[in-house]
Amino acid sequence: MPKFYSFFILILLISCNSRETETLNIPPEKITFTQHIAPILYKNCVVCHRKDGIAPFSLDSYKAVWRKKKTIVYMTQKGLMPPWPADPNYSHFVGERILTKAEKQMLKLWVKYGAKKGPDSALPKAPNFPNGSLLGKPDLTLNLENIELEAHGLDKFLIVKIPFSIGKDTFVRAVEFVPGAGNNVHHMNGHLLNYLPSKKKNVFDGNRVANAQAIDFDEQVLKLNLKNDDGTDAQRIHSAVNYLPGVYPTLYPEGIGGFKLNKIGAFVASDIHYGPSHKAMVDKSRINIFYAKTAPERPTYELMLGTNGQSEIVPPLVIPPHKIITCRTKGIVPGDISVLTINPHMHLLGTSFKAFGLTPHGDTIKLIHIRRWDFRWQYFYTFQKPVKLPKGTTIIVEGVFDNTTRNPHNPNHPPKTVSDKNGSMKTSDEMFQFIITWMPYKIGDEMMRF
Ligand code: HEC
Repeated sequence: MPKFYSFFILILLISCNSRETETLNIPPEKITFTQHIAPILYKNCVVCHRKDGIAPFSLDSYKAVWRKKKTIVYMTQKGLMPPWPADPNYSHFVGERILTKAEKQMLKLWVKYGAKKGPDSALPKAPNFPNGSLLGKPDLTLNLENIELEAHGLDKFLIVKIPFSIGKDTFVRAVEFVPGAGNNVHHMNGHLLNYLPSKKKNVFDGNRVANAQAIDFDEQVLKLNLKNDDGTDAQRIHSAVNYLPGVYPTLYPEGIGGFKLNKIGAFVASDIHYGPSHKAMVDKSRINIFYAKTAPERPTYELMLGTNGQSEIVPPLVIPPHKIITCRTKGIVPGDISVLTINPHMHLLGTSFKAFGLTPHGDTIKLIHIRRWDFRWQYFYTFQKPVKLPKGTTIIVEGVFDNTTRNPHNPNHPPKTVSDKNGSMKTSDEMFQFIITWMPYKIGDEMMRF
């Protein structure tokens, strides 16, 4: 090769290399697992990639990471892991997991330069998840009945009763559902029944599980024995515990949200939805409870827009085959509120989701923008500080649904009309829903940090 060319190639190589490392301030051959890689993975991956986590393998040791190193580079370069659908250029949330350019580069160069281990002494302490909790050490853990999942490849819907007796009345700050069958638990909506000992002799009486798809469903629910002994209803706390894949439970500061927990009661998972399973397994899910010191000073409320909610969807959520449609739904805020947490929800045909407030003065308050909707990651997003929506603000929610063959998640081949009108939450029906957890606004709320 003529001298001139080799010189040129050398320059090119040098410049590529310097561009690759320019975001890092260490030479790439010095990158090691214990010093540089473990901190990135502990912070962004291990919450799911651990024993009993929702991901299918752990990323909490050198050996485990070494085995997956190539896929890790691929998934992180593509932005597929860690999964964080909300656009960080639009709004920010608690527990945001997004790799910086430098962190992605670090992972890539670490693998390229031999994926070295580094000194053991440099390894940071691995994150700890007591009783599977993402929030810390729970005050109380309640186990659900073991649920057998058959390998029949069908959706399964159950109602499960989780009774308890704790000696004295108390207050609860947060309740967390920890799925036992990892990725197979698609969602769980639960409420709490607070019983009075004078009205209920034995909360443990009755069946624990009812099959929501059975023909004798009503009889099965009766056998759960949820009512008071005199046939009246116990006090019911709605949405006491919810779960969707990847959900990070919310722990607001003391005094915000929460509810009373009587000394006897039962959580009722009013529907647990298991996705189609092709492997037989036993689900050992549990509920972690965190007590509050005092009664909630500032109770929180929920507003639900769209499917099953308080606002109309326009046009109605009926998606003809081979069509892409945009639906909107709106709600007007009756007084000044502080928004704490939001939950966008669609199924397989959803492709993008946006929600914002439009104040009476015409200002836009950004809530969330998901440019590439992914059915698997249905987070409850908690703002880093409460977002004030002034009285009269219109909350506008927009969702795009793609019922063409170009949508790789389309469950129907060929596509057929899909709607939210079947009243079911089956994955193959569609939903367009936005849940807002809020409290009445107080001066200074914007200064809080969650
Ligand atoms: C919110 C939970 C969660 C977080 C956080 C997360 N993952 Fe994952 N990851 C999963 C699940 C679940 C799967 C299984 C496949 C799927 O459902 O996409 C997976 C799959 C993977 C795969 C295998 C992909 C394949 O096709 O074989 C890799 C590699 C991976 N994750 C790397 C990472 C890395 C690296 C991070 C952090 C930078 C991370 N993940 C953070 C949940 C998570």
